[in-house]
Amino acid sequence: MQAVAIVVAAGRGERMGQGRPKAFLELGGEPLLLRAARAFEAAPSVGKIVVVVPEPEISAARERLGVLPKLLAVVAGGERRQDSVLAGLRQVPAGFEGIVLIHDAARPLVDVELIEAVARQAAATGAALPVLPLVDTVKRVRGGRVVETLDRAELGGAQTPQGFRCALLREACESALVAGVALTDEAMAVERLGHAVHAVPGSKRNRKITTPDDLAWAESVVAGILHT
Ligand code: CTP
Ligand code: MG
Repeated sequence: MQAVAIVVAAGRGERMGQGRPKAFLELGGEPLLLRAARAFEAAPSVGKIVVVVPEPEISAARERLGVLPKLLAVVAGGERRQDSVLAGLRQVPAGFEGIVLIHDAARPLVDVELIEAVARQAAATGAALPVLPLVDTVKRVRGGRVVETLDRAELGGAQTPQGFRCALLREACESALVAGVALTDEAMAVERLGHAVHAVPGSKRNRKITTPDDLAWAESVVAGILHT
């Protein structure tokens, strides 16, 4: 059974400081959201794509993304990222027993190989995400004072797409909502339930575009000036 991808693009992009949601900014002449969605269009494991955007962007996004044959729905997001994910999940048909892949539109350079690796691992184990090893030594700092040096070998940066069996993700997200837990990613919701989450190797190219520096980096990659 093919997976459903949910691409979340309903954030405000405040750290980008461009006055418009960053998923609609262009990278190499194309909005970040369209680039991210196209990767899922090209991924053989994906059957349908749901896109979550700010309410005022719905009609423009429908028009722009309408070229993607796998597009199932474009819906409005919520206040927090986790609310946007739930809005996307509501578009997945009840009783769907396959894998749902949640992806940040802010990671426009995700490639098909990574999507396939996450989808495969999620299908085998129920829950998977890409994790990128850290390069810096990591300190715990309180009030400007280092209190601990963490073991870097055990640490990694969480990326998306994060893949889950649909029923598991629904249960995890709804449980977090009821418990009032703030989530920074979906894996965290599933970890809360005590379910194992498996890591696949993340990729540097799949960096999240957060600040203008990240966008400049991505422009260099797309222009072929920088190789990842
Ligand atoms: N996102 C979302 N709905 C929200 C918040 C975030 O769909 N209410 C999405 C963003 O559009 C982005 C992804 O989640 O694709 C990761 O979030 P982040 O990088 O924090 O993006 P923004 O929230 O837009 O940026 P900022 O935090 O700087 O405002
Ligand atoms: Mg945010």
